[in-house]
Amino acid sequence: MVDQVISNLIVNKKGSYVDCTFGLGGHTSAILKNLDSEAELIGIDRDPESFEAANEVIKKDNRFSFINDKFGNLEDHFPGDSLDGILVDLGISSRQLDNPERGFSFQAQGPLDMRMNQSDVDSAETWLNKSSKEEITRVLWEKGEERNSRKIAEIICRERDVSPINTTQRLIKIIVACKPRKSKRHPATNVFRAIRMEINSEMEELQNVLIAAGCLLKNGGRLAVISFHSLEDRIVKRFLQGKSLDGKKFSFRKVGSKHFKPNKEEIIKNPRSRSAILRISEKVA
Ligand SMILES: C[S@@+](CC[C@H](N)C(=O)[O-])C[C@H]1O[C@@H](n2cnc3c(N)ncnc32)[C@H](O)[C@@H]1O
Repeated sequence: MVDQVISNLIVNKKGSYVDCTFGLGGHTSAILKNLDSEAELIGIDRDPESFEAANEVIKKDNRFSFINDKFGNLEDHFPGDSLDGILVDLGISSRQLDNPERGFSFQAQGPLDMRMNQSDVDSAETWLNKSSKEEITRVLWEKGEERNSRKIAEIICRERDVSPINTTQRLIKIIVACKPRKSKRHPATNVFRAIRMEINSEMEELQNVLIAAGCLLKNGGRLAVISFHSLEDRIVKRFLQGKSLDGKKFSFRKVGSKHFKPNKEEIIKNPRSRSAILRISEKVA
């Protein structure tokens, strides 16, 4: 959905923009191509592995700079009413997902890590082996909407008493034993997503970046958020409708008739984009 982002996010070609989820720099490069020489773009990513790609952009383009931090801390880096556009492309990059050593994928054998920044304290392994059965059940249910949350949590706790659960394969084996495969969807999808969201505090990060965007955008500045899951999209939608989030609310005007979805060609090119929803809104006084 790069084209939709570009044509609807950039309101001032000489303005200041933030790409909160630099990743591999795909959106950043497209945004830079569409900005004038006086503009600036700051890329942010919590994963230090993004430095390599960010440095390549820095070498070629003096309008770009990079901050290795969580986007929930956005207000630490910019003054209020100073930005023309903010992009948030939630989730993980294909590089993170495809590297078995990062432990995000249920398609590959690897350590049970799932941290977006590997210097954070709790990996998925640490969390899974120390949390109570009730806590695991709650997270799988609330963040993964996993119907078998109680049963899976029970077996996890039983299995970890035998030996710590420290690989993706061992966790997958437990999940598959609790819920046989019924559809094309891998039975571990919800559990993996729930654990990833929990250990990376993804819902809290989303809330913080939305509130920060409300404070940091100029009037007329735009916020674009791409989410991949209804839980996230619901929060974004309500916030952009002017509903209160953590006691704070802001006024936005919707850009476009509804939300944007990837078209057929985009889905064929990148099947992971099939559940993406892009919402773009403009801050109003
Ligand atoms: C879907 S990828 C973004 C891909 C990027 N738009 C591109 O074109 O390459 C999401 C990226 O956001 C980063 N990320 C996720 N949550 C974050 C957070 N709370 N703060 C900063 N970066 C975050 C991840 O590390 C990952 O690199």
